Amino acid sequence: MALTPGVMLVTADTPSVSTILDGIVQLHCACILNDNTMATFMPPLNHPQIYKWWEDRIAEVTSGHRHIIVYLTEVNDRTTLTNAKGQDIRIPFSEEGKPWPIIPAAEEASPSGDGDLEIGGLVSLVTPTTQTGPFRGLVEKLFTSPFHRQKGIARIVMKRLEEVAWDLGRWSILLDTTAGTPAEQVYPRLGYKQVWYIPQRGFSPEDRSLLLDEVGFFKDLRHDKRL
Ligand SMILES: CC(C)(COP(=O)(O)OP(=O)(O)OC[C@H]1O[C@@H](n2cnc3c(N)ncnc32)[C@H](O)[C@@H]1OP(=O)(O)O)[C@@H](O)C(=O)NCCC(=O)NCCS
Repeated sequence: MALTPGVMLVTADTPSVSTILDGIVQLHCACILNDNTMATFMPPLNHPQIYKWWEDRIAEVTSGHRHIIVYLTEVNDRTTLTNAKGQDIRIPFSEEGKPWPIIPAAEEASPSGDGDLEIGGLVSLVTPTTQTGPFRGLVEKLFTSPFHRQKGIARIVMKRLEEVAWDLGRWSILLDTTAGTPAEQVYPRLGYKQVWYIPQRGFSPEDRSLLLDEVGFFKDLRHDKRL
């Protein structure tokens, strides 16, 4: 089955899953390098280590404790080559000679690259085992590719996440992000309410001597407007 542009859930059985995982690693690292996103890993980024981390997340998909949602977009639909700082987008692992992962859309894809796909967006829903809160879900790793920002991809993957959560009876949705980042402005646009603020929660990927603050958001899918 050929992959096509749009939103999809990733499992161990997804076609080209290793290329998709490679694209997920690339997007994760691109956000750390271009946006200073506080997301588990600190530079210098180590590809095998982060790839292994994502393989472990796929194992959680297999065990039913996580759902990984990606948005595949055509490489030809990139809208910018610069990041939020106005600099050329930094390509993770390029100094190691590693190219940006591309997923051929179909065997008959043209040599010109028409129809080739890449990971435009990503989010995951954690569904922990808990007898006291089987209705809880946790949002992790919402990233949109720096090549594809502000054209609704975060909204689309979050909408799919809410559908998955609702279908599983997971209506109490929590997430956190770093204070002072664009994401802090994005979550209220998606209907999430700020519920906590924790100072000095983690190292800045740019400068380990700086501790960044965390903001927590919440949505009750029973009462709050779903996407
Ligand atoms: C935060 C992020 C995921 C947003 O992705 P995106 O695909 O560009 O967002 P969308 O285009 O779906 O926009 C969703 C809403 O947020 C708004 N928005 C998007 N980027 C924004 C920005 N930089 N500042 C303010 N609002 C913004 C949009 O206008 C839209 O609102 P609307 O639908 O009411 O008009 C993306 O900037 C990103 O990946 N940042 C780096 C990683 C990160 O911080 N992740 C989050 C937590 S770990």
